[in-house]
Amino acid sequence: MSSFGIYQIGTVKIEQEACYIEIHQSYLSGLRHIENFSHIFVLWWISMRDNPQDRLQLLAYPPKLEKEIETGVFSCRSPSRPNPIGLTKVKLIKVENDRLYIDRIDAIDGTPVVDIKPYLPGDTTKVAELRLPEWFNHLKE
Ligand SMILES: C[S@@+](CC[C@H](N)C(=O)[O-])C[C@H]1O[C@@H](n2cnc3c(N)ncnc32)[C@H](O)[C@@H]1O
Repeated sequence: MSSFGIYQIGTVKIEQEACYIEIHQSYLSGLRHIENFSHIFVLWWISMRDNPQDRLQLLAYPPKLEKEIETGVFSCRSPSRPNPIGLTKVKLIKVENDRLYIDRIDAIDGTPVVDIKPYLPGDTTKVAELRLPEWFNHLKE
């Protein structure tokens, strides 16, 4: 199996009044035109789970279910996984210099950001068309 390198392009900043991604100076030109998008995908490094034990985990119990279901980490959003990559769709509120102000993110302050991609119409699926395991059906509501 191959392994690949990943560069940190920015950092999640959570403040009392604001939440933003601070992009490293060397990647700023990659932001050109991003202000024209209402939503973006943020890919981040689940840094506190970047250890051999968490990266060996292949089964997890999704939280907040009525009964405990053990499922594969590729079938849920467990932060413990072989490559600790977090994915969050966020609303882009404004862009100011090296800061992308966003509505919210489920990453903690200081989390490394590894990529940003625009959210496009093709990324949307009607809820009615979604097929999910029955234990995730409550997420449709
Ligand atoms: C369940 S993960 C899902 C992340 C992402 N939405 C996804 O689907 O890939 C989200 C949780 O990861 C935890 N978390 C956030 N930032 C983290 C970090 N830097 N290291 C480890 N855990 C983190 C928080 O407890 C948060 O609620």
